[in-house]
Amino acid sequence: MLCAAAWLETNANTYFHLAIVRDECILHDMPEKPIICGTKSLALEVEAGTHWWCSCGRSAHQPFCDGAHKGTGLQPVKLEVAEKKTVWWCQCKHTANPPFCDGTHKTLPKQDESV
Ligand code: FES
Repeated sequence: MLCAAAWLETNANTYFHLAIVRDECILHDMPEKPIICGTKSLALEVEAGTHWWCSCGRSAHQPFCDGAHKGTGLQPVKLEVAEKKTVWWCQCKHTANPPFCDGTHKTLPKQDESV
């Protein structure tokens, strides 16, 4: 019996998980990578209510979801806001505390400065 696993990147946005279990090869689709929309947080005042943060980076209405994630395997993140306040939204889409900026953008590889 041979058991092993590996993550395979087949192009810029697609990952597969390859698992070899008991000599059987299993290939799983993985979610696409999020697109980096900005390399720093976005401070934006929001009204009380429900807001959906775009986690895929494909929405045309950043930082909010417009449904463009469909087919990516990524999902928007719900934020309930009790009263009007300023939120520091993550734009790099790599935060460990979505939808909030946690400083992870400082650790990402340098991007085009126009982003
Ligand atoms: S913009 Fe700061 S962690 Fe994503």
